Amino acid sequence: MTETMTPATRADTTSVRLRNQIRAGRAGSAARGGGPRWRLRPRARKFVLTCHVTVAVGWLGAEVAQFILGLVGLFTGNPELVRATRLVMELLGIELIAVLAWSSLLTGLLLALATPWGLLKHYWIAAKLAVNIALMLAGHFLFRHWLQHQITTPSQTVGVQLGIGVGTGLALLMLATVISMYKPWGKTRFARRR
Ligand code: HEM
Repeated sequence: MTETMTPATRADTTSVRLRNQIRAGRAGSAARGGGPRWRLRPRARKFVLTCHVTVAVGWLGAEVAQFILGLVGLFTGNPELVRATRLVMELLGIELIAVLAWSSLLTGLLLALATPWGLLKHYWIAAKLAVNIALMLAGHFLFRHWLQHQITTPSQTVGVQLGIGVGTGLALLMLATVISMYKPWGKTRFARRR
């Protein structure tokens, strides 16, 4: 004898299957309203957020120090002081800023991927991701090169480039901090499609 299913019993069966899949952690994100597959619990999320804000704001502070050193190196007439500022800038860049930038990226990725925010669902997060990566690339391929040049053969042109570069980096980090607080521009097309 064949059993006929009414639309109501079919819906019931589907929802039970879905609930079991979610319990077993197998259901796709769409089944849970587009949330992440793996979520941070509230306490863990607060802890990661505290780490993220600490390293991001620390990075901003280190960038302010770089900017001031850059200006001192540019405007002082003392060649010894110019060299000293460049050496400290290189040390700050390699020992501190690189570590803070990586930490900001990794904690930010964790917060985005393991919370309902998502990585590419909101423009403010996508913009911060772009700023974070762009600054890391600029630090590695431009600033480091300019600094080494300034330590071996100081020149006014490279000093100006360095000042402009560090100033731009500082402005972008300030922008990232402001957009973190205001969270502007809404959802991306990627989020609306889901
Ligand atoms: C560029 C340097 C960055 C700075 C200065 C920065 C700063 C901040 C600040 C101040 C907050 C706290 C906002 C609040 O609680 O209202 C925050 C939260 C957040 N950031 Fe960043 N961030 C940066 C990079 C990133 C990156 C690269 C990502 C992801 C790829 C990211 C993802 C997030 C997420 C998802 C939150 C919200 C977390 C939550 O509410 O649970 N951030 N960020």
